[in-house]
Amino acid sequence: MHIRDERPGNQQDSRAITHVEYTAFKGHPMHAPGAEPTEHLIVGRLRASGDLTLSLLAEVDGEPVGHVALSPAVVGADQTGWQLLGPVGVLPTMQGRGIGSALIREALRRMRDAGALGVVLVGDPGYYTRFGFACVPGLGYPGVPDQYVLAVRFGQRLPQGDIIAHAAFAELA
Ligand SMILES: CC(C)(COP(=O)(O)OP(=O)(O)OC[C@H]1O[C@@H](n2cnc3c(N)ncnc32)[C@H](O)[C@@H]1OP(=O)(O)O)[C@@H](O)C(=O)NCCC(=O)NCCS
Repeated sequence: MHIRDERPGNQQDSRAITHVEYTAFKGHPMHAPGAEPTEHLIVGRLRASGDLTLSLLAEVDGEPVGHVALSPAVVGADQTGWQLLGPVGVLPTMQGRGIGSALIREALRRMRDAGALGVVLVGDPGYYTRFGFACVPGLGYPGVPDQYVLAVRFGQRLPQGDIIAHAAFAELA
């Protein structure tokens, strides 16, 4: 498996990412039965507005099989410094082989090296705690139960207050 950055302006990469995220989230229990996934659209919106902090593709034998996106998020009084991880998806046929873990670990390494305060996300603690993510008292995401609001910090600064994700995450009409 090989992890690399999405090539800016490369349509083959953006199409592959759409396919991976769409297929990973198709039929996901977080969506209403029969509803179409929206995660691939979120990535497209982040790309279009130039706000993909990081867009990593995982390839096996040269074929894209996994993807993770990071974008800036406001956390409480902190207008900058925090990054939101997601969406992350792996093709269903390739799940359970460590590809998602490798993408998340590489994303965290990159953000730490870049001097970010930390990374926040909304997700299943059963999966993300293995990467160091944890609930933080005083950290929230409007409309989401606190147990799914997770963060990892790289310095002393604690994430406090509400996470405001990029507008790309707003409900898609
Ligand atoms: C979540 C996802 C990205 C993980 O990628 P992956 O390549 O399958 O993950 P890995 O192989 O690195 O890790 C697999 C482990 O994660 C666990 N896991 C996967 N999803 C999980 C979840 N939602 N809750 C708890 N554990 C989960 C698996 O049981 C497995 O556990 P094990 O290591 O103890 O056997 C992938 O399953 C996926 O694309 N799912 C659909 C989209 C999705 O749910 N994205 C995250 C939304 S928050």
